[in-house]
Amino acid sequence: MPQISRRDAIKIIGGAAALVATPPALFAKEVDGVVELIAAPVSHKLHHAEDALASNLWGYNGEISGPVIKLRQGREAIIRFTNLLPEPTSVHWHGLRIENSMDGVSGLTQQAVNPGESFVYKFTPPDAGTYWYHAHNNSWSQVARGLYGGLIVEPASGPALPEDQDHILVIDDWRLDANGQLDKDSLGAQMDWSHGGRLGNWLTVNGKSAPKIMLRSGAANLLRLVNASNSRVLELDPLKFGGRIVAFDGQPVPEEPIELHYRPLLLGPAQRVDLLIYPENPFALEEVSGQAFPFCFFELASGATKAIGYTHPRPNDLPFPSSTDQLEFSIRMTGGAMGTLDDIYYQGEKLDMAGFQRTQQFWAFNGVANLMEQPILAVKHGQTVSLQIENSTAFMHAMHLHGHHFLIEDRDGDGVEHDSLWRDTFLIAPRQTTRISFVADNVGKWLFHCHMLEHAASGMNAWIEVN
Ligand code: C2O
Ligand code: CU
Repeated sequence: MPQISRRDAIKIIGGAAALVATPPALFAKEVDGVVELIAAPVSHKLHHAEDALASNLWGYNGEISGPVIKLRQGREAIIRFTNLLPEPTSVHWHGLRIENSMDGVSGLTQQAVNPGESFVYKFTPPDAGTYWYHAHNNSWSQVARGLYGGLIVEPASGPALPEDQDHILVIDDWRLDANGQLDKDSLGAQMDWSHGGRLGNWLTVNGKSAPKIMLRSGAANLLRLVNASNSRVLELDPLKFGGRIVAFDGQPVPEEPIELHYRPLLLGPAQRVDLLIYPENPFALEEVSGQAFPFCFFELASGATKAIGYTHPRPNDLPFPSSTDQLEFSIRMTGGAMGTLDDIYYQGEKLDMAGFQRTQQFWAFNGVANLMEQPILAVKHGQTVSLQIENSTAFMHAMHLHGHHFLIEDRDGDGVEHDSLWRDTFLIAPRQTTRISFVADNVGKWLFHCHMLEHAASGMNAWIEVN
């Protein structure tokens, strides 16, 4: 088995055409209204080469990625979670605007679930769209080992596309060694934590290497892309295969699918994009940074039943920020390699070189790393918040606010994304300043962090309080 570099990867992938069609993503079963979700060790092959070895990973219900959980908007979901891992964990429902006690953040909204124990998550998703779930304790390690899965909230009413026209693709970036196994020795590497996070050398879709997915020929097909990578910002080019944007982070764009007028489309860690295509020919989904890297292959079938036509989703009922009654806050992001030399405090201590090494804290919001003792900002329920975020670091970040979607109001510097859309995670380029606004309409403690999970672990982590 050759060392897997990006160039070898393409060579190996060339043989993928011989692979049989990949079965569609598994859906979680509901028994008597309860979804059982079990986290446990699982052996799984991450590379399709014959001589690649299986990796010892952690997964949900024995799958990498976890089963796709399908919920209905406005209907209560009950998910009984059991932890059969050797360490505590919890499950976060990324992007769902649900009750704080169900948000699944270990140490903030709940106690981590200990090995052998269970926790029942009960919530009612208010918004239809594409979401995902993942471990939220030592996420940098647990998510990197496979603890994530897709989540679809179907609209309360209205037509839905049948399963062969509706595909969820949960994409992950793995760092494989020469045997095609997850390189666990480099988990937690300081070099990753203080730079761009843990980047891999191999991409999977729904846990499969170079899968072949059947689409309905000439009909409307929805591709729900989820970036489950620890830190990789995927660069995609949907225009290459005629893909138009239906939704970002679960929230549909207004009125009709749009064509992006810039390329590539950046999909940061935790972000989702729903694409609509009417495929006429087989094609591949490619990562286009540097040399194009095809990692998912689409074939066409005509289907046994009549194809269903596309209807653009209705907007979810999101609270619109007030333009007159806003509270303004600002957060300055500092730290990391090649960063500013501003002071960083951690648990009251000003970190010097030895302090960085000992604490493994390298990043800060407003000069403080991993501020968990108190909220970084506190507001009353119903208040519109205007939050200015200034990235004074030398790296891009993927900023996520729990429990709310927000509007991107403006950005300066090099734009990296589409403007004026609802998001739950936004990319911010080095030295860029972005202003977001949202109505703090969900009471509780809500994490605000970088979704490059190594950055969150090493300082880019704080929470806001709504009371
Ligand atoms: Cu995907 Cu703290 O979350
Ligand atoms: Cu970051």
